[in-house]
Parts: sequence; structure tokens; C-alpha cells
Amino acid sequence: MIFTVAIDGPAAAGKGTIARAVAERFGFAHLDTGLLYRAVGAMGGDPVAAARALSASDLQRDGLRTLEAGQAASRVAVIPEVRAALVAFQRRFARAPGGAVLDGRDIGTVICPEAEVKLYVTASAEVRAHRRWLEVGGDAARVLAEVIERDARDMGRDDAPLKPAVDALVIDTSEMGADEAVARAIAAVEDRLPPVP
Ligand code: DC
Repeated sequence: MIFTVAIDGPAAAGKGTIARAVAERFGFAHLDTGLLYRAVGAMGGDPVAAARALSASDLQRDGLRTLEAGQAASRVAVIPEVRAALVAFQRRFARAPGGAVLDGRDIGTVICPEAEVKLYVTASAEVRAHRRWLEVGGDAARVLAEVIERDARDMGRDDAPLKPAVDALVIDTSEMGADEAVARAIAAVEDRLPPVP
């Protein structure tokens, strides 16, 4: 069965939690596409060459989850040649037999517009910054400023900007627990799964 769940949204909205839970529930493969951009940003040097040479082992590097790695990822992600170099891998993953969940910024709009389920997971900048701060600590005002800066860059770029696909189900987690958000995502997938013969 080919079945893609595309999950887009801004940083720290809860995409990863939902993506992992959906993948586990249905036995689908999961790709956190932010890791691709984080790895390219962390490699230094020419980001286009880094994106073209990216391999699976680059996604295992230490330090890819930090705020700095997120900012570096967001900066290399505005470069059209970097994005182009990462498209084929993501498309193959999305349409591989067995079902796939991909979370990122442009999965439902650019990478896999034919996805069977599209979710746009969001929350207020304040709530997202607070969640990030609980994970990384440090200066809360700086964490909020970073979230706002990254949103502006990810939503304002010309190539594949972050926005909900027209047919995406929007899940706002500002005042919603993880359990409810996951339950809504699972219900959306169950609605679209082909009937068992
Ligand atoms: O989801 P994340 O925080 O790991 O993503 C890091 C950055 O990578 C994000 O700010 C923008 C970029 N990104 C992207 O442009 N497209 C994606 N599909 C995933 C991430």
C-alpha cells in the first residue's frame, strides 16, 4: 500500500510527537525532514555541495537538535538548490510501499501534494517558545525571539514557504494536550485508509 501522511507546521508545534505516534500506530516509516536541513547546516562549507552529498550517516551527527542547529537549518533552507537536492530522497520515502509519515514545512505543499492525509500542526509562538525553553533552558526571551525569527524566515522565503496546504486539516495545539492532538491525527488517517479487503 502507498499511503503518505504529510505533517507540516512551525517549530515546536508538536509535529514530531504526532508523526512518531501515527507512524507507530499504523506501522508506517517516519522521516523527520528537518533533520536533513539541520545536517546540511551543520556540515559547514558550501551548503549546496553538502546537500548533494548528504548521506544517512550525516543524520546521526551529535548536536543537530540545538537551537543553533535549527537556525542554521532555516538559513540553508532558503537556498533553492539546497531544497532541490533533497526533493528526490523525500519523494521516494513518501511513496515507498508500506506507508510513510513525513514531518516538515513543505511536505503537503511541495514534496508530496498527492499525500492521502495532510495535517498542519500549529500553536501560538509563545506556547511553542515555552515548550522549546522547557527542553533547552536558557534565556526564555531569547528562545521566543528565535522562534519568531525562524517562523518569519520559514514563512517568508520564496521557495516552498511554510503554509498550510489548501486541503490540510489544521490542528492548533496551543490549548490541546498531546494525547488529543495524536487522537485527531489518528482519526484523520483512519478516515482515509483503504478498506481491508
Ligand atoms: O523541523 P525543524 O525545526 O527540525 O526544521 C529546521 C529547519 O529546517 C526549519 O526552520 C526550516 C527547515 N525545513 C524546511 O525548510 N523544510 C522542511 N521540510 C523541514 C525543515
